[in-house]
Amino acid sequence: MVKHVELARRNKQFTLTSWQTQNGWRPVSMARADDVYFWDANGKRYLDWSSQLVNVNIGHNNQQVIEAIQAQAAKLTYAMPSLATEPRARLGELLAEITPDGLTKSFFTLGGADAIENAMKIARLVTGRQKILTRYRAYHGGTFGAMSAGGDPRRLANEPGVPWIVRLHDPYAYRSPLYDGRTRDEGDQALIDQMAETIEYEGADNIAAVLLEGYSGTSGIIQGEEVYWRGVQQLCDQYGLLLIIDEVMSGYGRTGKWFGVNHYPWVKPDIIVMAKGLTSGYVPLGAVVVSEQIAAHFEENVLWAGLTYSAHALACAAAIANIQVYRQQDLIERSAKMGQVLRAGLVALAEKHPSVGDIRGTGLHQVIELVKNRDSREPFSPFNQPMTEPMQKVAALLLANGMSTFVKWNWIFCTPPLIINEAQIEEGLSIIDKALMLADAYTEG
Ligand SMILES: Cc1ncc(COP(=O)(O)O)c(C=O)c1O
Repeated sequence: MVKHVELARRNKQFTLTSWQTQNGWRPVSMARADDVYFWDANGKRYLDWSSQLVNVNIGHNNQQVIEAIQAQAAKLTYAMPSLATEPRARLGELLAEITPDGLTKSFFTLGGADAIENAMKIARLVTGRQKILTRYRAYHGGTFGAMSAGGDPRRLANEPGVPWIVRLHDPYAYRSPLYDGRTRDEGDQALIDQMAETIEYEGADNIAAVLLEGYSGTSGIIQGEEVYWRGVQQLCDQYGLLLIIDEVMSGYGRTGKWFGVNHYPWVKPDIIVMAKGLTSGYVPLGAVVVSEQIAAHFEENVLWAGLTYSAHALACAAAIANIQVYRQQDLIERSAKMGQVLRAGLVALAEKHPSVGDIRGTGLHQVIELVKNRDSREPFSPFNQPMTEPMQKVAALLLANGMSTFVKWNWIFCTPPLIINEAQIEEGLSIIDKALMLADAYTEG
């Protein structure tokens, strides 16, 4: 045990971790990784059921990507962003190809949060308007503006945040009172009606853009359906608001399409923000991809944005190689197919375990919501509260049985790498099965 314990001790002694007290940090170590697994410093194997931070979409230790990074490093590692490079040009071309029609030019960042910052800045520069509409149940990153834009309660530590964010309520059909006594479609419509009211109250002339995740992620995979998305597009058209779609988590095959928003072909984003699966974490990179009209605006107007590491050559090379891997291995289709296998397994678990209240998501982007009581829907751990005993035990058992994933409040996230096969999905489901058995003991009624 000494190897792992010693590594954790040195990490804790000399470095700070995120989103928790330092005392509460009990890190698992990670010494090497391959395919959908990683190993700690003692050699214990974990099934990576979350693709780390839902970013290692192509899986670990992909030789094609590693060799592309090595080849780029041997040629050119860094050029300042005002210079032209081959990997930057090629990646720009590829992003124009794979993003929805009309999106033509990319601005490169280091990750998701700074891409969100720049997308909001671009929307405000282009429109000359100030406000951005976002959702309460959303996460857009940990920098100051992005943290304000996200409604995720982590932002409460950052209040009042930037003053020009206005938050909308969410299509949380399982819990929102707006859906009580209504069909799913009626609830979605009620939410859109409320959004129209908000736009009127805030003054459409003050609103630059609506910012939404293409497919909701870390806030609980809370997704509106067709009525919702048609309504959003219609309101953007009616009031002349730009639509920024955050695909940081939902992009790159996560939901069985290239981008979450591809599930709604009538939605026309003006800006798409991406990171995570763009490079699957092999090198940090984010991008803001804008429409032809927005790009045209900056032909004559200064783009007041810049980063020393924008369009880093190694990161661009990693992204190009990733896109080749997605294409060559048909990973987008594979996610849709394996997603059905995963979903069927989760439905079977829900039938067996009274602690399962809801299952949401699509593709390899699913979440299980655990409840004390299926009728009252009382969660095991309430929103924004420390995890209660049953959820702590569930999390500990998953880990002990060799599964690494997110357990947050009363949710277990199921977002494995897109290369996962049926046997590995079975392996994951059987670990979750045991944890749910433990949770069942805490149910009532
Ligand atoms: C939807 C979404 N947007 C933005 C971000 C922020 O990305 P990053 O952590 O790379 O800054 C995240 C991170 O989880 C995310 O899920």
